[in-house]
Formats: sequence, structure tokens, C-alpha cells
Amino acid sequence: MDGTFNENDISRIVEADRAHIWHHLSQHKPYETTDPRIIVEGKGMRVWDQKGKEHLDAVSGGVWTVNVGYGRESIANAVRDQLIKLNYFAGSAGSIPGSIFAEKLIEKMPGMSRVYYCNSGSEANEKGFKMVRQIAHKRYGGKKHKILYRDRDYHGTTIACLSAGGQDERNAQYGPFTDGFVRVPHCLEYRKFEQEGAPDENYGVWAADQIEKVILAEGPDTVGGLCLEPVTAGGGVITPPDGYWERVQEICRKYDILLHIDEVVCGVGRTGEWFGYQHYGIKPDMVTMAKGVASGYAAIACLVTTEEVFNMFKDDAADPMNYFRDISTFGGCTAGPTAGIENMAIIERENLLQNTTNMGNYMLEQLEELSDKYSVIGQVRGKGLFLGAELVEDRNTRAPVAEKIVQAVVADCMAQGVIIGATNRSLPGKNNTLCFSPALIAKKDDIDEIITAVDNAMGRVFG
Ligand SMILES: Cc1ncc(COP(=O)(O)O)c(C=O)c1O
Repeated sequence: MDGTFNENDISRIVEADRAHIWHHLSQHKPYETTDPRIIVEGKGMRVWDQKGKEHLDAVSGGVWTVNVGYGRESIANAVRDQLIKLNYFAGSAGSIPGSIFAEKLIEKMPGMSRVYYCNSGSEANEKGFKMVRQIAHKRYGGKKHKILYRDRDYHGTTIACLSAGGQDERNAQYGPFTDGFVRVPHCLEYRKFEQEGAPDENYGVWAADQIEKVILAEGPDTVGGLCLEPVTAGGGVITPPDGYWERVQEICRKYDILLHIDEVVCGVGRTGEWFGYQHYGIKPDMVTMAKGVASGYAAIACLVTTEEVFNMFKDDAADPMNYFRDISTFGGCTAGPTAGIENMAIIERENLLQNTTNMGNYMLEQLEELSDKYSVIGQVRGKGLFLGAELVEDRNTRAPVAEKIVQAVVADCMAQGVIIGATNRSLPGKNNTLCFSPALIAKKDDIDEIITAVDNAMGRVFG
């Protein structure tokens, strides 16, 4: 493309996109005949595309990110001021917003004490895996290096994160994967009939016991870490069954296994608590977070550890190898913690945790009412403003609805101007869950609008 063009020349923007942008998670053939979607502006819960069409965003920027909503001038102003003062210095030095945000974060996470900054959820999880490995080398001659992950969980896009990825369709074609990652069974009670030996009662304890079985089969002296989402997100919005977490915690203690909680989606308010794990009384050793930390106003991720984990990397200062020899260039950007401070202040000022609980409960009720109307809704589940509706062909067999039908519901909502999500190309034959994660500022009217759109769409697709 030659000549200059400006941001108001929207047809030129679309053409430049078509010619040069490689969209995430997208097959591009259709863009030869249809225009790629370009999101131009956002305010509150709403975004506008290149045609000026307004959408109610029920997925916080597509992937559970814009927790405090669009157009927050106070965050933009804080970031602007900080960028002028100091935009960057490598993370081997500290920064003013880095210190302030770390202190505020730790206030919300009793039992945790150290914040390691980086810039994506995948990267934060990789840091956690590296810590487990280094601890194994320092203390156990390299033996206790295996990291357990769960069927249906997702921890990121890099090869090591995919090696810890419980979504076979997401992983397909990207192997071979990294050694030392071992899968444990999922804890989705709705699909326990597919798991051999699953009991009618006390499923949560049984599901956690399956983790112990894997540990014993691998050898407890080889297992150093267990990485789990508190509520599984892209794997189908899986809330843990009763008794699950208590037993998981016991198992980790029994075998001296570090518990790494991946809060990349749940973290900073999504479920109505600051962190998802706080619903379940869990005491993690490591917590990773990204998306909601600054609601997408800056790229920031954090790995937070206990002082005990931190101390393992400083206890022998005479050894030149005895510290966490890791860096993240953009972990030194000051925009991230600056946006994080204001993001957290907004959540507190506007009482958004309470709103998330209230609106989440309301939305769950509304989805349950829809399930009375449409038998294709097999189960509705979630916590706070983090909800899913699993679609099945038959409530008795629980046979999943085909992904293209689920996508037809999503597309119909989009045509109505409401953006919802769905599990996609992640779990072979089981991409059948509609996903909802409106911003934490959602009001009753917004929820009603989302539910009406889903009702209309379901009526057309399944009517
Ligand atoms: C639970 C979970 N962990 C980690 C990640 C990876 O985060 P990022 O895309 O920032 O690398 C994601 C992304 O969707 C996620 O859902």
C-alpha cells in the first residue's frame, strides 16, 4: 500500500489489515471475501467496529481481560504520567509503581509475599515451571522435577505451556513437547460418567485422589509441582466439585509438591473474590496472573510466591548459581504496575467484587431459566461473572453438540450486537460450552440484554 492514510480512512485500514495482519486463532481464507473485523472504540461494556456497529461485550475483550471496562481515563492518565516520568528500566532494578503495586497485591493475598513481573500469562507460568525445576536441581539432585497438570486446563501458548496443556486439540500439531510434564484427570462432575470408577458420591475427593494415584505411579520423589486453574476457563468453565481442593492441598503437603495456581483468568476479581483460589481456602506456593491485572490497559503478568519459595533462591548467597537466573525484558515496563494500581483502585472504589458476586448470581439464575426452556443446555456453571453453559444433544447421554452449532449461537448473538464466547478448537469433540465473562461493571440491564440475545439465538438455532 502506498501513500499516507490516517486512522479515519477506515477502508484503507481494512485493506492494510487484510494485506498484512495475521489474526490470532484465525483461518484467513474467509477474509478473501469478507472483511476482517476491526474493533475501533470501546466505552464501558460496549465496543464499536469499523462499520460503526455497537456491540455489548459479554467476554471482556474476547478473552476475560477488560475487567473494569473500556475507556477508563484514570488508568490512561496514570499510565501517561508514569511513561513521561520513567517508561522502562530492566527488572534487576526496582521502580516506584512496581513497589506500590506489589505491596497492594500482597495485601490481597495473605500468605504470599513476592511478586515477579513479566508480560504474559504463558510467561508467568513458564517462570513457575522454571522455579520448580531449579528447586529440584538445588535440593533433590534434579530428581523432583516433574510438573503435573490437569486434563482440560490451559496454561499458555509456548511449547512448555502446551506441554502442560490439557487440551489435546489446542496442542495438536505443535509437538513434540517438553519432557517432565504429566497429566492428571479433570474434575468436571458433569462428565464423570466418562471417567472409569467415578463414584456417585464424594466425587470431588475421588477426583483429587486421582492426582495422588498419578503421583504414586510416577514416584513422589520425582514430582515437584502441580499446576491447576482454580476454575478451569477455556476447558469448559469447570467449577471444582465439593471436597476437591481440600484434598488437593493435603496431597501436595503429603508429597512435598509445590502448588502453582494459575489465576490468569480468575485473578483480580473475575470470580467475585480477588483471586479464584480464595473461594476454596487454598494456600498456594505460587500464583500466576495476567489478563485482569491491568484489564488490558497495559501488558503485565505476575508470578507471586510465598516467602518460603523465595528463600530457596537466596539461602546460599556464596553460590554464584543460587538465585533465579531469569529475566523478562518487558517485565520492566512501568506501564503495567501503574495500570495495575489504578485498576485495583477502581475495583475497590466501585465495589466491583460485590457487584461481580451479585451480577454473577443473577446471570447464573437467568441462564438456568434459559435451560428450563432449551433442553440443549445440559449444565450451567461458573463463579462470579465467569459462567458457562454446556450444550448437549441429549440430556441423558450428554452427547456434546457439534462445535459448528455452538458457533452458530455465537454468530447469531454477534449479528444481534452481543459478543459471547465458546470453547473453541480445544477439546476433541467437546467444544460445546458457551462462555460468558462480562466486565465486572455489568448491570442488570446488561445481563438481561445478553440473556435476551442468547435466547433469540437459541430459538433460531434450535427452534
Ligand atoms: C488459564 C490461562 N492460563 C494462561 C493463559 C495464557 O496467557 P497469555 O495468553 O497471556 O500468555 C491463558 C490464556 O488464555 C489462560 O486462560
